[in-house]
Amino acid sequence: MIKAVIFDLDGVMVHTDRFHYRAWKQLADELAIPFDEACNQRLRGISRMDSLEHILKNSNQSYSLKQKIQLTEKKNDTYKALIAHMTPADVEQEVLRTLETLKNKGLRLGVGSSSKNARFILERTSLSPYFDAVVDGTMIAKAKPDPEVFIKAAELLGVVPNAAAVVEDAPAGIAAAKAGGFIAFAVGDAISSALSDAVLYHFSDLPICLSNFNISSNKLQ
Ligand code: BG6
Ligand code: MG
Repeated sequence: MIKAVIFDLDGVMVHTDRFHYRAWKQLADELAIPFDEACNQRLRGISRMDSLEHILKNSNQSYSLKQKIQLTEKKNDTYKALIAHMTPADVEQEVLRTLETLKNKGLRLGVGSSSKNARFILERTSLSPYFDAVVDGTMIAKAKPDPEVFIKAAELLGVVPNAAAVVEDAPAGIAAAKAGGFIAFAVGDAISSALSDAVLYHFSDLPICLSNFNISSNKLQ
């Protein structure tokens, strides 16, 4: 039986992915580096510095580590100004109802996010009380696709990976979940990821999909 669910935050429970895009776009424009929504999709789930490295591949200028750190800080300042306006209304009712249903079923719920801003967002949106454990980008040495964030969350929840489902919108997150031995549920952009064990077309399908998931065959029944 699946005993716990570990959720990615950005792009799964809140639409902060559009704020990440706006903040990176502003920085890329200032640096005269081409950047569009398609480039942004490749940044899903990966760390701030890994995202910058991706963007700089399209630059013919080289940057020192110190400059790169300054650039990530600049992006984060823009991003923080955007998320500062978030409220509980930024969480869809479907997400809240689903979390409520899972809690009532006795499942342990956790967050596994690469973001160093995850706790701030959980507070702004009043999502924090739903979770028994939160592991964010400040608590890990290796970002997704490394499984560290989910392994830490499972430890805090007191479950083994193969009794826990991970819900992810990023191919890097699905890869991290599978590398850690978790059951990987894909939403949004990750739906096309060949690695996922099941696909959620609607967030509210989660309770029924969890009940119908057969751990032995690793498939939906
Ligand atoms: C992930 C996002 O959740 O967090 C990425 O999908 C982001 O786009 C990463 O780069 C790190 O976020 P932050 O808030 O620490 O810059
Ligand atoms: Mg995400």
